[in-house]
Amino acid sequence: GEHLALWSEVGSTNDVLKAEKAPPNGAVVLAECQTAGRGRRGQNWVSPFGAHLYFSLFWQMDSRHAALQGLSLVAGVAVANAINATLGDAVRLKWPNDIYHNGRKLGGILVELVGQANGPVNIIIGVGLNVAMPLDAARQVDQPWTDLQQIYNRLVDRTELANQVISRLRDALATFSEKGLAAFVDDWNRLDCFWGQAVVLKNEQSQQVGICRGIESDGALLLEAGGQVSRIYGGELSMRSH
Ligand code: BTN
Repeated sequence: GEHLALWSEVGSTNDVLKAEKAPPNGAVVLAECQTAGRGRRGQNWVSPFGAHLYFSLFWQMDSRHAALQGLSLVAGVAVANAINATLGDAVRLKWPNDIYHNGRKLGGILVELVGQANGPVNIIIGVGLNVAMPLDAARQVDQPWTDLQQIYNRLVDRTELANQVISRLRDALATFSEKGLAAFVDDWNRLDCFWGQAVVLKNEQSQQVGICRGIESDGALLLEAGGQVSRIYGGELSMRSH
C-alpha cells in the first residue's frame, strides 16, 4: 500500500518524482528505461529497457538535520546492505556512495534537493543498479562496470531486488532522520572498498594522496598522510597509480 509508480519510459525518474506535488516520505518512481538518465557531475547514466534497476525515492527532512553528505552516504549503505543480504555478501562502497565490486562500478546514487532554503528540505534519491548489461548498452558506458548477473553468476529477479532495496532504503532514512549518520559509520567503514589503501583524492583545485581511513560521523572522509589525518568533504576518489 506504499506510494510506488512504475513507468515504462521516462527521461529521468528523478525528474518525474520532482514534478510530483507533495509525495509522502518514501514515495518511489521506478522505470523500465530512461531516455535522459543522469549520473553525478553531469554524466549520462546509460539506462537500457528492462535490463537494470532505475528508481527515485522521495524523502523530506527538517533542514537542520538534512546534512546532505550524510544522507548520500546512508543511501549507499542501505543499497549495498540490501544487495548483500539478498544475494550474498559481495558488494562494497566507493566514497561517497558508488556501489562497487572488485574495482568495477555496479551502481550509483544521485541525490538532488528541491525547494526552499528554510524549513523542510525535499530530497530526491535516485538509484541506478546494473542487473544484466546488454552488449550494445555496454559500449556506451565509459567507466569500468559490472552487473549483478556477473557478480552472482545467476539471473537476478528485478522485482524482488527492487523490493529489498527500496524497503532497506526507507528504513535507513527513517533511522537517519532520527539518529543521524552516527548510526551508519561502522557499516560504511566495513563496506569501504578502499579502507587502508593508498588513494588519490581530486577536486577542482588540488589533489591529495593518502591512506583511506573511512568516514567520520559528520560525513568527512579521513585521509592519512605523513602521520596526519585530514578530513575531506568533497571530491573524487581514485586508486593511487604506482
Ligand atoms: C552516479 O553517477 O553514480 C549516479 C547514477 C544515478 C543513476 C540513477 S538511475 C535512477 C535515477 N534517475 C537518474 O536520472 N539518475 C538516477
